Amino acid sequence: MVRDGEVIGEGFHAELGGLHAERAALEDCRRRGEDPAGATMYVSLEPCAHQGRQPPCTEAILEAGIARVVIASEDPSEKAAGRGPGMLRDGGVEVELAAGAEAGAARLLNQPFRKHARTGLPLVTLKLAISLNGRTSTGSADSPWISGEASRSLVHRWRAEPDAIAIGIGPALADDPLLTARLPNARQPLRIVFDSDARLPLDSQLLATLDQSPVLVVVAPDADSSRATALRDAGAEVLVASGATAADRVSTALADLGRRGITSLFLEGGRTLASAFTTSGNLDETRIFIAPVLLGEPELAPRPSDPEGESENEDLARRTSPPDHSERRVALHSSTETVGEDILITSRFREW
Ligand SMILES: NC(=O)c1ccc[n+]([C@@H]2O[C@H](COP(=O)([O-])OP(=O)(O)OC[C@H]3O[C@@H](n4cnc5c(N)ncnc54)[C@H](OP(=O)(O)O)[C@@H]3O)[C@@H](O)[C@H]2O)c1
Repeated sequence: MVRDGEVIGEGFHAELGGLHAERAALEDCRRRGEDPAGATMYVSLEPCAHQGRQPPCTEAILEAGIARVVIASEDPSEKAAGRGPGMLRDGGVEVELAAGAEAGAARLLNQPFRKHARTGLPLVTLKLAISLNGRTSTGSADSPWISGEASRSLVHRWRAEPDAIAIGIGPALADDPLLTARLPNARQPLRIVFDSDARLPLDSQLLATLDQSPVLVVVAPDADSSRATALRDAGAEVLVASGATAADRVSTALADLGRRGITSLFLEGGRTLASAFTTSGNLDETRIFIAPVLLGEPELAPRPSDPEGESENEDLARRTSPPDHSERRVALHSSTETVGEDILITSRFREW
C-alpha cells in the first residue's frame, strides 16, 4: 500500500485459510496508524471477488476507499478471472494491469496455484543428485549421499515449500528415509511413496513418524490386498492408481492428488520414478545437483542366464514405459549456481 511515494502497509497470504494479502496489508496499514483511503495498492495477483475460506478482497478494498489498484498478474481460476478488477472499476477504483516482465515475474511467484487452477494438477519439481559419471545411486558405497552437505540442507528447505514429496519404493527400501523438512517450525508436506505392490515395510521410518506428517502409498490395482490393508492399518493412506504403464499411473495419481487440493509436488525419487514422470509429460521444473564424485559399479542389466534377474527385467518392463529417445525437451529457462562443492542446474520446462 503506497501513498505519496511512501509504503504505508504490507501484507502477504501466509497460509491456506488465512488472511489474503490484501486484507493483511490493510490490517498492517491500520496497525501503523495509517488511513488507507486514497492510497494505491500493488498486488501480485488479481484480488478475489468470491467468498472462499476468506471473504472477498474486493469488498475490503472498496470499504477502505483505495483509489488505485495495480495488479501484476491475472487469476487463471474460473471463479475469479477478471471478476475482481471489474467489481473494483464498477466501485470507482482505478485498476491497472501490469504487462511484460513484471507480469511474467509475478506469474512465476504463483506457479503451483496457477497450474492447479488451470489444470487441476499439482506443479511437479524434480530434484536429483548425479555424480560426474551420471550415476544417481551410490549402491553399496559407504556413504548414501551423492551431493554435499550444503546441497542437502538446501533440500531440507525446499521440502518445507511443497504440499507433498514423492519417492519410489526403491529409495524407501534402500535408504529408509524420513522425508521430513528438518527446519524449526517447518511446514511438513504429505509424504508419498509410489509402491505398486504395497511393499513399504511396516517398520519403516516413514510409518514410524506419522505424527509428524501423513504418508500416502500409491499402489497399482493388482497390489497385494493384504499388504495394502496392513499399510492402511498402520495409519498410511493407500491410493490405487490405475493405468497400463508406469507413466499412466503417474498421471492418474497426479489427477487424484490435484482433486485433494495438492498444488505442488516435490519429486525426490530415484531415476525410475523420475523417468516415469518425464515420460508422462508431467515435469514442470528440475533441480539437478552435479557432485564432483565418480561412482563405481555400473548398473549392469541382469544376465539372461540369471533367472532371478530375468524375472526382475520382465517385472520392470511390465511396470515402466519404454523410453522415448526421440523426444528432446529444451528448458524455457535454466540457471546454474554452485552450492558448496556441487553445481545446481535449475530448469523450468513449463510456465502457468
Ligand atoms: N541421486 C538421487 O537424487 C537419488 C534420489 C532418490 C534415490 N536415489 C537412489 O536411487 C536408488 C533407487 O533407485 P530407484 O530407481 O529404484 O528409485 P525410484 O525411482 O524412486 O523407485 C523406483 C520404484 O518405484 C516403483 N514405482 C511405483 N510406481 C511407479 C511408477 N508409476 N513409475 C515408476 N516407478 C514406480 C517401482 O517399483 P514397483 O513397481 O515395484 O512399486 C520402481 O522400481 C537408491 O539407491 C537411492 O539411494 C538417488
